[in-house]
Amino acid sequence: MGEDLARVLYTEEEILDRLGQVALEIWDDYRDKDFLLVGVLKGAVLVMADLIRALPGTAPMDWMAVSSYGSGTKSSGVVRILKDLDTDITGKHVVIVEDIVDSGLTLSWIKANLASRNAASVEIFTLLRKPDAAKVAVDVKYVGFDIPNEFVVGYGLDYAERYRNLRCVGTLAEHVYR
Ligand code: PRP
Repeated sequence: MGEDLARVLYTEEEILDRLGQVALEIWDDYRDKDFLLVGVLKGAVLVMADLIRALPGTAPMDWMAVSSYGSGTKSSGVVRILKDLDTDITGKHVVIVEDIVDSGLTLSWIKANLASRNAASVEIFTLLRKPDAAKVAVDVKYVGFDIPNEFVVGYGLDYAERYRNLRCVGTLAEHVYR
């Protein structure tokens, strides 16, 4: 797979180091609260797996799957729930776990949706954020890395469902999508 990358942005070691730091921050903020980590399928699977194991204590997790309505582009910001939470989040402190915030449309919808269920609080952790791609402002409490507005794959992020299992995050070589 490595030969399909143009450039490595973050190595596995750099990602795990940063996740370890964020895990400690989250633990400090939530250890005394009734909190729940909510992963958004599928990209966040790898982030969640490493983040939750980096926490110094135990924490529950749950999952949502969402998709955009209509054309399949995310530009509308209208989101459909494909798989909802198993957990009633009334009164709980929710931390959404994501791989990437791009336009911000998905996360801003999910955050509002979860807040409307009477959660005590809803915050976001994303491993990657593209500040230059933002179409809506989303308040993200924990950010792994801010990255340039380039298409990236690996560590959960796909190109046509491929490369999610790369251990690093990188940009694709041109020959892949030609
Ligand atoms: C990615 C990512 C976010 C969303 C961010 O998911 O996991 O959910 O896109 O984009 P936005 O900020 O422009 O809304 P994707 O729809 O690619 O699904 P996947 O996680 O299953 O790959």
